[in-house]
Amino acid sequence: MKHSNIPVIAIDGPAASGKGTIAGRVAKALGFHYLDSGALYRLATLAALKAGISLDDAQALEFTASRLAPVFEAGRILLDGEDVTQAIRSEAVSAATSKVAAVPGVRRALFELQRRAARAPGLVADGRDMGTVVFPEAPLKVFMTASARVRAERRYRQLLERGEKADLNMLTADLEARDRRDRERASAPLKPADDARLLDTSAMGIEEVVGKVLEWWDECR
Ligand code: DC
Repeated sequence: MKHSNIPVIAIDGPAASGKGTIAGRVAKALGFHYLDSGALYRLATLAALKAGISLDDAQALEFTASRLAPVFEAGRILLDGEDVTQAIRSEAVSAATSKVAAVPGVRRALFELQRRAARAPGLVADGRDMGTVVFPEAPLKVFMTASARVRAERRYRQLLERGEKADLNMLTADLEARDRRDRERASAPLKPADDARLLDTSAMGIEEVVGKVLEWWDECR
């Protein structure tokens, strides 16, 4: 694999560990681009659901992922001209996505799309396999964790803020099931890269976590 010289900060970790918020803030602080790789898996899943494709049909899922042409525009995500920013975050899409993301062909199909996100002056990439598979050359790899309960509570507050119904126990169980699927799948499972720095954010605030990542970035440049 040919590696570019664009600096990349890879931030991986389980669902609702706060990666998205942190990665977005770090990107803003450094003036870097931001890749939300989970959004690509969510988009592929939504496209497949809309097309009536079975989640067991690996070939059709791979084809759908390979044709994905999302447009990221001022914080909105458009798919075939439709604003799907909210739709890809629904609990139904979240649950289906961890199944779609386990399909090797889907991961292959989305690989180049992710690599192309590395543009000057730099990229902060958030996902599950940014440090292990997609950007193994990244000079800084962070593996962010938080207990399932803390993560479920964060997701619970997010859902309530959006005016959606939520049940904390169900969210915790759902997160644990999704983590298990992400960790146990054969293709690019969720795990820290050998050279990743571990960060447990259970008892940390957002600013503190952002500060830590920026401090690590200063150290490794
Ligand atoms: O980060 P997220 O919750 O938006 O991710 C949605 C799903 O996609 C989740 O089940 C894990 C999967 N995913 C993945 O397998 N690899 C990535 N790089 C990013 C997300």
